[in-house]
Parts: sequence; structure tokens; C-alpha cells
Amino acid sequence: MSNLLVEREPPIATVLLNRPKQLNALSDELMDELVATLLELDGDDEIRCIVLGGSERAFAAGADIETLSKTSPFEAATSDRLARWDAIRTIGKPIVAAVSGFCLGGGNELAMLCDVIVASETAQFGQPEINLGLIPGAGGTQRLTRAVGKAVAMDVILSGRFLSAAEGKDAGLVSRVVAAEAWLDEAKRVAQAIAEKSPVALRLAKLAVNRAYEGSLQLGVEYERQAFAIVLDSEDAQEGMAAFIEKRKPDFKGR
Ligand code: CAA
Repeated sequence: MSNLLVEREPPIATVLLNRPKQLNALSDELMDELVATLLELDGDDEIRCIVLGGSERAFAAGADIETLSKTSPFEAATSDRLARWDAIRTIGKPIVAAVSGFCLGGGNELAMLCDVIVASETAQFGQPEINLGLIPGAGGTQRLTRAVGKAVAMDVILSGRFLSAAEGKDAGLVSRVVAAEAWLDEAKRVAQAIAEKSPVALRLAKLAVNRAYEGSLQLGVEYERQAFAIVLDSEDAQEGMAAFIEKRKPDFKGR
């Protein structure tokens, strides 16, 4: 795997995103490898809980903006990218997100697809798509709102501001906050404790909690996908992404 580090230590497995130069931005190749790895671990009888992390500096800084800037609305609404997110949603085993540093955009959406979020005190959570003239496109408008409520979700999504780990914990996004140096060890400890429980009960508990959480969520996610494809076609989105790549301030015109 060129974009992942995978460590199998039954009954847990640890998968670390590994595109350090791009702060683990979620390229198509990385997402393909991630889905294949998670599906394989989901079918591995010796593995009972999965830890998903990034590096100390970044869990993931979002979708790969370079690729996104070349994506047509049609591709955004129909491509394999959506199937990858859906595949991660189907993983039956518990996934503990180990979050240190930046957890932004698609990175935050990926963390929210996990079941427990263990965050370093350095973690920063956000949906900064608005700075690019975009909106979240992988469930952020729906899952963040359910996790933290409308007021905080609107603040984060409309202003692009980041939540600290402590704010994330207070708001209900984060399960536990741990010392900076303990982010991965603590997540593994949590996974180990979960892995000692009955795999049958774990699978059913995960399904049941998601049922409480997902009532009509899928309709919301589909609505968001259509809105994302439309916004991607705006001149402002092209300007926002070009400005990021060219390292300058965007000039939004409202078109
Ligand atoms: N895509 C591609 N490359 C990215 C990236 C991304 N999402 N985020 C960071 N990088 C790259 C930078 O371009 C930079 O590359 P170079 O060294 O080649 O210039 C490298 O990672 C390091 O980044 P910075 O120099 O910007 O580091 P910083 O510490 O100054 O800032 C940051 C860190 C605040 C995370 C900043 O990189 C940033 O704002 N990144 C973009 C975050 C973002 O907008 N995410 C949302 C993406 S859209 C999305 O995710 C849609 C969706 O819902 C699916």
C-alpha cells in the first residue's frame, strides 16, 4: 500500500493514512486503498476492532483540492468516489478514529464515519469548504449537524472556523480527548477494550446506534451530493480552488 500504513495486531488492526506531504489529503488512490483495506479487515475473523488514524500533524486535510478542481459536476454526482464513501459506511466492525492535528473537510467526514473519535488535544476539526467556494460533499452537512446540533454546525460550516478538541468534545463530536503524545496509543487501548467484547453484540450495537442516528440521513446525504455537484460548477468554486493551489486569497464574485 503506497498511501497507507497497516498494522495487524489481532484482535485489533491499525490503518494510518500516509500522504504526509499533502497532509493526508484524500486522493482517489488513497481512498481506493482505504476501502480495500477496511473491507479486507472487516472480513478477517481475527480482527475485532479497527483503528483509523493519520499522522501527528494531520488526520486528513480533506479531499484532494488539486483533483477536485478538475472534477466536473457530473463526475461529482456519479463517480466511484461516492461508492467509496458508501463502502466505508457498510463496515460492520467498530472503527476508532485516532485524530491528531488537522481533521478537515473530507477528513472530518471520514472521522465522522468512524464510531468512536479519540482526539489529541492538538486536534482541529473543521469543514472549511466554504473558503473554497464549496460546501461539504461527503456527508458533512448531515453528520456534523447530527453530531453537534444546528448552531455549532452552522458556525463551523458557514464560517469555516476550526473546533479545538475540547470544543469538539463539548459539542459531542469527539468521544475522548487525550494528551498530544498519547493520541495513537490511547486509541489502540480503546480499540483493544472494545475488541474484548462479543463480536456479535458489537456488530448489532453498531447497527442499532446507527439506526438511531441515520433516520433519513441517507436522503440528506443524497441532497448534499446534488448541492455539492451544483456548487462545484460555480465560478466561485473554480476561483476558490485555484486560489488555494496558487496560494493567494480568493476573489468571490457570487457566480
Ligand atoms: N488537498 C491537496 N493538498 C493539500 C490539501 C488538500 N485538501 N491540504 C493541504 N494540502 C497540501 C498543501 O497544498 C501543501 O502542499 P505544498 O507543500 O506542495 O505546497 C501541503 O499540503 C501543506 O499544506 P500547507 O502548506 O497549506 O500547511 P499549513 O500548515 O500552512 O496549513 C491547512 C494547513 C490549514 C490544513 C491548509 O493546508 C488548508 O487549509 N488545507 C485545505 C483544507 C481544506 O480546504 N479542506 C477541504 C477540502 S474540500 C473537501 O474536503 C470536499 C469534501 O467535502 C469531500
